[in-house]
Amino acid sequence: MHKPFSQACENNQEPILQVIRTVFCQPTTVWEIGSGTGQHACYFARHLPDIEWQPTDKSENISGIRLWQEEAQLANLKPPLTLDVTDAVWPCPSIDALFTANTLHIMSWNEVQIFFDRLAVYLNPKALMAIYGPFNYHGAYTSDSNAQFDQWLKNQKAASGIKDFEDLLFLSTSKGLSLISDFAMPANNRLLVIQNS
Ligand SMILES: C[S@@+](CC[C@H](N)C(=O)[O-])C[C@H]1O[C@@H](n2cnc3c(N)ncnc32)[C@H](O)[C@@H]1O
Repeated sequence: MHKPFSQACENNQEPILQVIRTVFCQPTTVWEIGSGTGQHACYFARHLPDIEWQPTDKSENISGIRLWQEEAQLANLKPPLTLDVTDAVWPCPSIDALFTANTLHIMSWNEVQIFFDRLAVYLNPKALMAIYGPFNYHGAYTSDSNAQFDQWLKNQKAASGIKDFEDLLFLSTSKGLSLISDFAMPANNRLLVIQNS
């Protein structure tokens, strides 16, 4: 098996790093949801040596992430764990820091709601969460390219699609989570920083 590769990860990893190094600024374990290829996990673990990075994803992506993790040889990069956000039990006692990129638009709204239900269970008080991806604001796309991307997503899977920032804010608030920052990122993406109460 060849290592999976994502050009998007190559493009966005440095801008994301510059923001998350200001968010995850204390030694902690960051749980990554939906690690995909595993490239982000390697890049962030390499550049954030005080952070222990825990990649996770659905079972079909674990072997690819493991190839990247084994090659990286980083003491602070943990072997990937299988975690589907809809699993009733996650493979962790609790979480102080969480990162996820480009996952919410793949999930259905029902999956996103279950994800936040689980966050209410697993996030420790004051836990920090960074969510990267495209979002709609005031019910509208922020660019033509996001509108085209949303149509493409829905053609792949009808329940997928770019989520509304306001819906995520409402969901967060209902779980006792507060928006700390909303960073504008290249290519019409955002990075939301959310903290548990
Ligand atoms: C577009 S990829 C993004 C991968 C990587 N984070 C990145 O930015 O390149 C979406 C990822 O979300 C994961 N995903 C989708 N539904 C999920 C779920 N219910 N639980 C956990 N991960 C999920 C997929 O397996 C996939 O790895």
